[in-house]
Amino acid sequence: MNTAAGLLSVRNICKSHFDPNIGGQAEALQAVSITVDHHEFVSVIGPSGCGKSTLLRIVAGLDQPNSGEISVAGQRVSRPGADRGMVFQEYALFPWKTTQANVEFGLLLKGIKKEERAEIARRFIELVGLKGSEQKYPHHLSGGMRQRAAVARAMANNPKILLMDEPFAAVDAMTRQRLQEELTAISASERTTVLFVTHAIEEAVFLSDRVVVLSGRPGRVIADMKIELDRPRRWDELAGERRFNDYREQLTRLLYGANAPVEMSS
Ligand SMILES: Nc1ncnc2c1ncn2[C@@H]1O[C@H](COP(=O)(O)OP(=O)(O)OP(=O)(O)O)[C@@H](O)[C@H]1O
Ligand SMILES: [Mg+2]
Repeated sequence: MNTAAGLLSVRNICKSHFDPNIGGQAEALQAVSITVDHHEFVSVIGPSGCGKSTLLRIVAGLDQPNSGEISVAGQRVSRPGADRGMVFQEYALFPWKTTQANVEFGLLLKGIKKEERAEIARRFIELVGLKGSEQKYPHHLSGGMRQRAAVARAMANNPKILLMDEPFAAVDAMTRQRLQEELTAISASERTTVLFVTHAIEEAVFLSDRVVVLSGRPGRVIADMKIELDRPRRWDELAGERRFNDYREQLTRLLYGANAPVEMSS
């Protein structure tokens, strides 16, 4: 149970932003601490505006906290690095590059040779089910395919941890379930460590080993729940399972119980 020496350690992060409505600093995150172990899939859930994206941006090194520390494998981080792969809600592919070139991009930056780049990219493109779309540009791909390409690009870089901010929010419900099933299968086979942000409770339960619940703004950790469901997970098997529904209910109660008054008054 002791996860103090996890792969990712987020310690006591506080973050404020300038809020023009009050003409001063408004707290977005309040003393947030989260640990993610090697090969663990952890989701962070919380209501809109509670600071989930802010937290992920800080872990990615794209934003600085006011206080607190982030470390990956014991190394303190303060700027972006190849040890953290990021997949955003909006498809962050280069529109002028093909799928193959998008997936190869991080490898190119690392100075990996052409043949090796092509080989690694091929493997991840196949892994996310995009074989045959290597030479297509993002505008030739559906939303779900673009998101698969973004996952392949992040994974091809072999990050220590994959940071995902509502990556499936923009796709339709059926595609979203397929992508969730694919992500659980891929993260299990590749033993990827993932920190995943969502406000969808079902998605968090389906994907995760642990779900961390943030309160309404300013985000504080109000629960850290272990999800003990067998893997691989599939929607047709899990949707009717009692334990799945119990987790979903407990998290719903936590989220709405703790957040309703905060949401009402903001
Ligand atoms: N760059 C910024 N400048 C000022 N305020 C910001 C900035 N970024 C975020 N905020 C504020 O910080 C709070 C948290 O924002 P954040 O985007 O992290 O929330 P979130 O939990 O990701 O919400 P959602 O679920 O809607 O994506 C919000 O009140 C937002 O207005
Ligand atoms: Mg967000």
